[in-house]
Amino acid sequence: MTKSRFRIDDHDMELDGPTTILEAARAIGIHIPTLCYHPALEPFGACRLCSVEIEKDGRKRIVTACNYPVINGLIVKTNTSEVIAIRKMILELLVARCPTEKRIRQLAKEYDLDEPRFELEDEKCILCGLCTRVCEELVGISAINVIDRGVERKVDAPYHELSEDCIGCGSCAIICPTDAIRGMSNIYPVTSDDIKELEDRFLVGVRNEDLGTYSELIAGRTSVLGQDGGMVTSILVSGLMRNIFDAAIVVLPREDSGAEAVVVDEVDGVMRARGTRYVRVSMISPLKEALRNGKKRIAVVCTPCQVRVLRKLQSYGYFNEKFPDIEITILGLFCFESFDYRNLRAYIKKTKGVDIDNADKIQISKGKYIVSLGGKDYTCNVKELENESSVGCQFCNDFVSRLADISIGSVGSPEGYSTMIVRSDKGRRLLDAMEFDKAKVDRDEVIKLVRLKRKKAEKNFAELMDGLTSGLAI
Ligand code: SF4
Ligand code: SF4
Ligand code: FES
Repeated sequence: MTKSRFRIDDHDMELDGPTTILEAARAIGIHIPTLCYHPALEPFGACRLCSVEIEKDGRKRIVTACNYPVINGLIVKTNTSEVIAIRKMILELLVARCPTEKRIRQLAKEYDLDEPRFELEDEKCILCGLCTRVCEELVGISAINVIDRGVERKVDAPYHELSEDCIGCGSCAIICPTDAIRGMSNIYPVTSDDIKELEDRFLVGVRNEDLGTYSELIAGRTSVLGQDGGMVTSILVSGLMRNIFDAAIVVLPREDSGAEAVVVDEVDGVMRARGTRYVRVSMISPLKEALRNGKKRIAVVCTPCQVRVLRKLQSYGYFNEKFPDIEITILGLFCFESFDYRNLRAYIKKTKGVDIDNADKIQISKGKYIVSLGGKDYTCNVKELENESSVGCQFCNDFVSRLADISIGSVGSPEGYSTMIVRSDKGRRLLDAMEFDKAKVDRDEVIKLVRLKRKKAEKNFAELMDGLTSGLAI
């Protein structure tokens, strides 16, 4: 590999392999301010705060250090009067745009800027694009984009509508250098601090680090046929029959896409939705449809990421502001990961020779993915399906839907039973109104899966967090 010899300020350097001016400068402790740079993301070159002067073959010019590669013979000056003037001008604009933002204020102080000479709208977003890039590049979701041009430029979800794609992973909120992303009510980032706040606000019981806030952990079984003990189906049927709910949002199997969330308002509809598909689908459209059609007491069955979305919307006051008197009951499923249906279908077809579109039942139990078809079970290890999992799942640290009214799954229960974690008064009342066989849950078994999922998410978040503590330091 050829070596690059170059100079940054007073330091002569020699490096193997490609690197940027910013990385090389940081390696020897030279400070270059940044706003839109993060080591875990592709450089973007948006804020230009990292401007430096370069000289190559006798010609001087200004470039952005975060994305300019070091080349042999390069001379870099990080602190010339022209560089300082450029940074000051950028900061002056930023202070005018976001006068109250702490990070901008800190940088302005570092460059001896007092009050800006002009005022723009008081925005929080500095348009660094970190949120959109983390959502696209790391989480793989692309729920938000920088839209519009000129002074109208902003970060937003498509069509300014509630995002159908955001999974509430919180990555954008963690990375955003200002509070801007939290001001957006059409995406739903949830951080670990938010979880605690949401638990305190919506749930009752004792708080457990692994299982969340709950008042009862119990296994149940009814005669209604459903997944495992049939408790999800039974709760919905009981709720509709007793007029506790006037609609439910459930997931129906669909060819090709695997599943679709729909609104049902009668028992037959619920019965058609029996069984889990392990595919993540958006609940936003059917929920809006139910609300527009005047439904007021709606039960939603969803995965932990969708539970986060619903709770976040509740915390924004979205439902009550637009649809007064509505009550949403959240039945959250246990979920280790969901799958990209097309990939999964192709993989199972190739390895097992069966089409999961035709499955009588699909379940995940004890680390196995099991397709039941024509009286026969086709099984593979869930680990084998890693490449088939949905994007974003690697950043989800919630196995037990810890923000639901009742969380339901099979882990920890005897064969044929559902495990239930009762988390709110609403959840309590629902179960009290029903008759079902009860059994004891193996709590440790549930906790084992909770920790495993959390560990996986923490590992994947580490890159992001490292960047926040090192790369982004002012
Ligand atoms: S919302 Fe935050 S992360 Fe996104 S562009 Fe604005 S300031 Fe940057
Ligand atoms: S919470 Fe996650 S999925 Fe939603 S916009 Fe932020 S990064 Fe994207
Ligand atoms: S352009 Fe380099 S940090 Fe923003």
